[in-house]
Amino acid sequence: MKNKKITIKDVAKQSGVSIATVSQILNGNDQKFSPKTVEKVLAAKAALNYEPDYFARRMVMKKSKTIGVLVPDITNPFFSTLVRGVEGVLYRENFITMLCNADLDTKKETDYLEELSRRGVDGYIIASSAISNQAINETLRKKNLPYIVLDQKKAEGFSDAVLTDDFSGGRLAGEHLSQLGHEKVAVVLPEDATENIKTRLTGFQEIYPKAILVYGELTKDGGRQAAREIIKTDATAVFAINDELAFGLYLGLAAAKKKIPQDYSVIGYDNIDMCEYVTPQLTTIAQPIHELGQTTARLLLERIEQPEKEWEEKTLPVQLIKRFSTAHLK
Ligand code: RIB
Repeated sequence: MKNKKITIKDVAKQSGVSIATVSQILNGNDQKFSPKTVEKVLAAKAALNYEPDYFARRMVMKKSKTIGVLVPDITNPFFSTLVRGVEGVLYRENFITMLCNADLDTKKETDYLEELSRRGVDGYIIASSAISNQAINETLRKKNLPYIVLDQKKAEGFSDAVLTDDFSGGRLAGEHLSQLGHEKVAVVLPEDATENIKTRLTGFQEIYPKAILVYGELTKDGGRQAAREIIKTDATAVFAINDELAFGLYLGLAAAKKKIPQDYSVIGYDNIDMCEYVTPQLTTIAQPIHELGQTTARLLLERIEQPEKEWEEKTLPVQLIKRFSTAHLK
């Protein structure tokens, strides 16, 4: 026969107090009870091996200790590193990370937001551009749910924010290619670029106002296909707006028998791990991706703790990492 599940009723019976008292004590509200009562309840819990039901507990505490995290696609190493940063901080604070891939699909993103809200998450981290301001207003702001929108989109109006300096990043990439003597350059980016990527481009265009724009999805395949367009131009250097695009360019340019950096200098953006494992190692603009995740998680937890505190905006710096995919124009 199956063992009977131990309930709060059993703990109350064994310790000789009411169910309400057991519930209060096991949920950490033990200040109003005598040490003897607390001890009796904890002893009964231990003797019976009682595990409080998570959902029942949530009803009492009005907290799920869960944060919903929405990213466009976790297979992109930028987002997996970001989530590791988020998760590390949340784990240390006894929170669970609930991850959703929004796939740049507005409906999927809205569905996730609503479902996460029904499941009672304590806050949201949204690193995805598909979210509409309307969904933010309807699902989050009106219900007073704490959230931070980062990376691809900046929330309109009132919320905390964590950014990286995309404008400086784009300009640093431009300055580097200019110092190497390149005059004709191309930028590979998505046609419907997100706000952060547009800012990156604006920084680059400060140095190269006439940069040739080649469009491709923000993926390795996007870069591979963009290589076919690059070789039709007179560019000698390419700024790939993220590292994944740059890796795709490696393959596409090799297929066209072009060499990096002899025929084309290539600079990426993000500084994901793979940059060091490709040949030639990729010169790139490093975003502090892990730190971005950590900072965002900390800021959100602070907001949950202190809902009335002043809004905060943090901008993290980026830096040029020189490797071997860029070289002087001969
Ligand atoms: O690789 C993903 C890219 O898109 C990153 O540059 C990040 O900033 C995002 O917006």
